[in-house]
Amino acid sequence: MSKRFFITTAIDYLNGQPHLGHAYEKVITDVIARARRSFGDDVFFLTGLDEHGQKVQQAAESEGKSPQAYCDELAKDWRALAEKLGLSNNDFIRTTEERHRRVVQAALSKLHAGGHVYKATYKGFYSTKEETFLTEKDRRPDGTFDPCYGEVVELEEDNYYFKLDDHQQWLIDYIESNPDFIYPSTRRNEVLGFLKNNALEDLCITRPALRLNWGIPLPFEKDFVTYVWFDALVNYITVPASHGDPTVLAVLDGIADPKLSTLGSQPPALLWPADIHVVGKDIVKFHAVYWPILLKKMGLALPKQLIVHGWWQKDGQKMSKSTGNVVDPIAVIDEWGLDAFRFYVVRELDIGPDGNWTNAGFQARYQAELANGLGNLVNRSLSMLKRYRNGVVPARSDELADDAAKTLQVAVSNYREHKLQLAVQNIWLLITRANQYVDQTAPFKLAKDPSQASRLDEILYNLAEICRVLAVLLWPVLPSSADKIFAQLNLSTAPDKMTAAAWGGLAPGHMIGEPSALFPRKDQPASAISSSSSK
Ligand code: MSP
Repeated sequence: MSKRFFITTAIDYLNGQPHLGHAYEKVITDVIARARRSFGDDVFFLTGLDEHGQKVQQAAESEGKSPQAYCDELAKDWRALAEKLGLSNNDFIRTTEERHRRVVQAALSKLHAGGHVYKATYKGFYSTKEETFLTEKDRRPDGTFDPCYGEVVELEEDNYYFKLDDHQQWLIDYIESNPDFIYPSTRRNEVLGFLKNNALEDLCITRPALRLNWGIPLPFEKDFVTYVWFDALVNYITVPASHGDPTVLAVLDGIADPKLSTLGSQPPALLWPADIHVVGKDIVKFHAVYWPILLKKMGLALPKQLIVHGWWQKDGQKMSKSTGNVVDPIAVIDEWGLDAFRFYVVRELDIGPDGNWTNAGFQARYQAELANGLGNLVNRSLSMLKRYRNGVVPARSDELADDAAKTLQVAVSNYREHKLQLAVQNIWLLITRANQYVDQTAPFKLAKDPSQASRLDEILYNLAEICRVLAVLLWPVLPSSADKIFAQLNLSTAPDKMTAAAWGGLAPGHMIGEPSALFPRKDQPASAISSSSSK
């Protein structure tokens, strides 16, 4: 049994409806997961929901529901989004599940027994909105706290703390000697800058149950619940534990309980350490500072890499439900199709910087790159083969073989290096090249001249074969369009193995299926994306 390639997303707070930002992260993770599968890796892709904590408790109260009932209802919408996005996830965790409670409690017991957790009295300021303690350093020059903290109250209470300061230098050394640990390097430099210029304060990992009861009870003192961020991070090992991963089970003494297991009759999965955690820039500190130290103290290896993506705005403004300035991914997909959404977010924004959604930008790319680019190429290539050769693939010809081979090589390394935007740009150069080939060779003119029959055969072979290769190259990003291209080519295999992008896969004599538009042209302004702010 060998270790699987384990990739995760952040788990979303269940305190509202999903928007573009949540969807973006899940799509780029899915693209990486699919690309790896296409390369032959045995991938395990995990996503899910973060359901405890004050934000969720307050959202439930404002709707007059119990937190559990509130979460159960809303979780359905979020699971539906995962499906709508075409995610190829292998598990979906909800932090209110029993398997998670057990692992969180086992992790806390282990750290407590190891002397990494201590109880102390805190006196000072607390932001309810951000569920965080504030210090004098957080005050602005006029003595007030930033409005992002909402109401700040003075508190005196006992809590449990997780020791961090004894591992600060270890973490700096680790990040310095593992340059790929945080991607891209700008984020790595920020984390190192933070660690070198600030003394780490120990992390408060409980809340008194009297003040907040929507959380996992502390196993060694029932008057406390676990801080939501400790709870949330542990999801990344809950799932390996519940799939029987021996590495994780070995450190969580006593947790190898059959009730925990979601295995059924499947063999245990070797998942830990995670290969990639994909997270947004706002939660880097939790993943690059707290999580590694937690794992180290538990005796578990660190994840191999954190991929940190930027944030989307809409029309140059922060997305916000209260101002109505949000992009609803479901409305966009309902009107334009799943692959149009996946294409736009990957093509528009490289992993790292911030992005800006505009409806005009979305429509322009749809029209130029999907409808007139890929869609037009596939449609006219297959329609001509149908019209001039009754859909029968002619003898092999290699005129576009070099272009295809070069694109394959570049796209594979782009995918491997998480340069998804670049992968798509390079694949589009091949689409443009193939569309130019149609214009330059003008098969529609050759078809009128019987003496050009063998030249026409060559062109038709190259065009049909380039469509097949493109489907394979694009499958990680545009899985349903890739499937449609294969169906229109009447191929019984799936476009999900990168090795199939080698030139010459289309057999002479093979009869293709029916061509149909992949991306119907839309001439009128979009209604769904312009009204998507109403949710
Ligand atoms: N629950 C925590 C994560 C715990 S992971 C152990 C959380 N949830 S969240 O719902 O607020 O955010 C989930 C993910 O969505 C984060 O990675 C966050 O960066 C991302 N995004 C939220 N809004 C975003 C944009 N506007 N743009 C891009 N991504 C954004 O944090």
